[in-house]
Amino acid sequence: MCNMNEEKNLFFDGADTVKLAEKYGTPLYVMSESYILERCHEIKRDYLNKYKNTRAVFASKAFLNMEMCRIIAREGLGLDVVSGGELHTAIKAGFPMERCVFHGNNKSYSEIEMAVSNDVGRMVVDSEYELEMIEGMAKDHNKTMPILFRITPGVDVHTHKFISTGQQDSKFGIPLNQDILYAYIRKAMEMKHVELKGFHFHIGSQLLDNTCHLMALDVLLDLLKKVKADLDFEAKEINLGGGFGIHYTGEEKRHDLSYFVDPMMENIYSKCEAYQLSIPEVTIEPGRWIVGEAGISLYTIGAIKEIPNIRTYVSVDGGMTDNLRPALYNAKYEAVIANKVNEAKEQLVTIAGKCCESSDILIWDIDVPPLEAGDILAVFCTGAYNYTMANNYNRLPRPAVVMVKEGQDRLMVKRETYDDLLGRDI
Ligand code: LLP
Repeated sequence: MCNMNEEKNLFFDGADTVKLAEKYGTPLYVMSESYILERCHEIKRDYLNKYKNTRAVFASKAFLNMEMCRIIAREGLGLDVVSGGELHTAIKAGFPMERCVFHGNNKSYSEIEMAVSNDVGRMVVDSEYELEMIEGMAKDHNKTMPILFRITPGVDVHTHKFISTGQQDSKFGIPLNQDILYAYIRKAMEMKHVELKGFHFHIGSQLLDNTCHLMALDVLLDLLKKVKADLDFEAKEINLGGGFGIHYTGEEKRHDLSYFVDPMMENIYSKCEAYQLSIPEVTIEPGRWIVGEAGISLYTIGAIKEIPNIRTYVSVDGGMTDNLRPALYNAKYEAVIANKVNEAKEQLVTIAGKCCESSDILIWDIDVPPLEAGDILAVFCTGAYNYTMANNYNRLPRPAVVMVKEGQDRLMVKRETYDDLLGRDI
C-alpha cells in the first residue's frame, strides 16, 4: 500500500501523505479503502465462497464509524457490536440488523432493550443474569431472540495478558464446568422467548499462530458431542471469534486467512462426521485483521530534545490520546518520516507524545534521518484499536479520520474541536 515518489514523500493508497497532513492537519488517521476491500474480498474468496454455510462478521470495536458500517454492509459481512453506542452507530448507518451480533459481558437492561426492539441477529449470552433479561425483554416484545452461549474454552494464548480472553480465569464467557454450562443449556431450552442456536468462543487478539484456535475448536467440538448425547441438544451454529494477528513490526507476519480457517474447517468437517453431528453454520469475527494494516497515523514533529549520552526525545502533536496501545500493552510500531523517506537514517531517537505522562512514548527507539520541527511522522499499522480507543486526556481533541482510495481522499470523521470538548459540560 505504501510507496514513495521523486519528492521523497510517502504515498499511501495512491495519496501523498504530506499533502494529506497539510490539507487536514495533524494528528490524522488515514485509512486505505483499497486495503479494507482487499481483506473483505479475501474473506469472501477463501472462506465464505469456499465453505458452505459460513458467515463473517467484522468486530467493530477495532474501527467503527458510520461510513465503516456502510462499507461492511456493502461487502456482505456482518457486524459484531459490544455496546449500545456501537449498536446505535450501526442502526443510524442503516446496517442490516439481522447481520449484527451483540457481545459483551455486562449488557445493560437498556442495551438489551435496544437489541431486542431492533431485532439484532444474534445475542451472545455471557451470564445467567443476561439470559434472564433477554427472555423477559423478548417476552415483553412478543419475540424470540436467537442466542449463542459464549464459553470459556480454557486455552491460554500467547499474546499480551490484557488481550487474552480464553483462559479459565477470565471475566468473559461461561466456564466449561459441566454443572454450570448444562444448567444454562437446560434453562435456555425451557425458555419460550430465546432460541439457543449454539456456542461462541473468542480466545484473544493478535494471535500469529493458529494452534490456540485449533485447541479451542477441539474443546468446542467435544462439547457439541457431549451436549448432544447428554442433553439432546444439537448446536446449529458455532462462532469462532476473531484474533487473527497482523504485521506490526519485523518479527510479526500477517497470515492469509486460509492459514487460520482451512485447518479449522477441516477439523469441523472431520470431527462432525466422526461424532455424527450435522455440520453447524460457522462464523468468524475478525477485527484487527481487516483494518489494522489499513491505517496509518500522521503527526507533526515539534520539540526535539537531546539528552547527551542518554537519548533524543522527538515530540509529536499526538500520543497516547490517539494511540493508547504502546502505553497500555507496550505495543511496538514502525514509522518513517513521511517527507524524508529516501534520506539516510543517521540517528536513533525516541518518539514521544505530548501528554503529561511519562509512559506517553509512541516508539522507544527508531532510526531516522536528520529531523527538524515541521517534519511529518507516519506511524504504520494504526488502523485497529487506535481511533476506537482514542481519548481526551489533557483535553486533546481527537484527530480526524480520512479515507483514501487510489489517490482520492475523503473525510470520514471530522476532527474534534475545542468547543466539542465543552459540548457536554454544564
Ligand atoms: N470477537 C470478540 C468477541 C472479541 O471480543 C474481539 C476482540 C474480536 C472478535 C476481534 O478480535 P480481533 O480480530 O480484532 O483480534 N484493544 C486491544 C484488542 C482487544 C480485543 C477485544 N476483543 C488491542 O488494542 O490490542
